[in-house]
Amino acid sequence: MSLERIVLIGGTGNLGSLVLKHLLSSPSQFSISLLSRRSSTSPKAPSGGSVVEVDNDYPHAQLVEAFHGADAVISAISMAGMHHQQKFIDACVEAKVKRYIPTEFGLDDLPQWLLDLRPMFKTKHDIRDHLASKESTGLTWTSICCNAFFEMGIANGFFQFDWKEKKAALIGDGSAKWPVTTLDTVAIAVVKVLEKSEATANKVILIQDFMTSQAEILEEIEKQTGKWNVERYDFEPWLEEAKEKVKQGQNESLPKLTFAVAQEAGDWREKENSANELLGLPLKTFDKEIGPAITSIREGH
Ligand SMILES: NC(=O)c1ccc[n+]([C@@H]2O[C@H](COP(=O)([O-])OP(=O)(O)OC[C@H]3O[C@@H](n4cnc5c(N)ncnc54)[C@H](OP(=O)(O)O)[C@@H]3O)[C@@H](O)[C@H]2O)c1
Repeated sequence: MSLERIVLIGGTGNLGSLVLKHLLSSPSQFSISLLSRRSSTSPKAPSGGSVVEVDNDYPHAQLVEAFHGADAVISAISMAGMHHQQKFIDACVEAKVKRYIPTEFGLDDLPQWLLDLRPMFKTKHDIRDHLASKESTGLTWTSICCNAFFEMGIANGFFQFDWKEKKAALIGDGSAKWPVTTLDTVAIAVVKVLEKSEATANKVILIQDFMTSQAEILEEIEKQTGKWNVERYDFEPWLEEAKEKVKQGQNESLPKLTFAVAQEAGDWREKENSANELLGLPLKTFDKEIGPAITSIREGH
């Protein structure tokens, strides 16, 4: 199955802009169209990709027109917009698109308590079901799970590092290791899925650059920035408190729920649907990636 004509949704975002970069630099010579909201204030596509604007609520007819002639539609839409994906999928079916890549790019296992407390994951879960229900129409799909974004997780507090206060909240002794993936590797994986379309059809695939822990990240942060205040929490009470806060409407605790699941993901290289080798992803190590990640945060990028 040859996938050459690509529509990218959310190509102006954190991940989407890197997907666009790797699509443009691929020797596969994709023809790329970027689908963006009419009201979007994000910077538009660099040269090499055309832009199609649609109304903010992504009307079906406009989507079908935008997808007409496309082989694949990639969604790198934000968490805030991911509920629109049912419309994207239905329009793909009507426009006879061959492959849809949903905006997954995170956890694989979605425990019921997480689906109940974090609507975004219920959406991701429902989209998986919706895609499976459309297989008989000829639309294929690939969901790419990468557990946690490495650089973002360090920068934005997801891994429990508070840069403003120089404070770290370590869960247990901070030594639990979980899979992480750099944004660049995630973007490369999207392009490789298109290039290896037969082997990746109708699958959830797992990718990871390496495993890391809060303790080893903190050690490197302190090497560059001096001593941090460290608070330690036992996993279960820490998670239960976060769940309680979310139930009371304190949504700032939502990322803790996600981190709790990400932290317990285990080594994905040992899983059957691990796809690093299949996709030929670059080999990366914590030692090589951590320095630039911290420097970039300190320089405010
Ligand atoms: N694993 C992890 O640790 C991790 C971390 C962060 C994100 N993610 C996942 O990665 C995917 C992409 O996230 P991202 O951070 O790259 O997204 P983002 O930069 O926040 O947004 C991507 C694009 O979505 C479009 N969009 C549509 N509706 C929107 C709305 N209501 N609000 C804001 N933007 C909207 C915008 O494109 P236009 O303006 O061009 O329409 C925007 O540029 C998501 O599935 C997210 O869950 C995973």
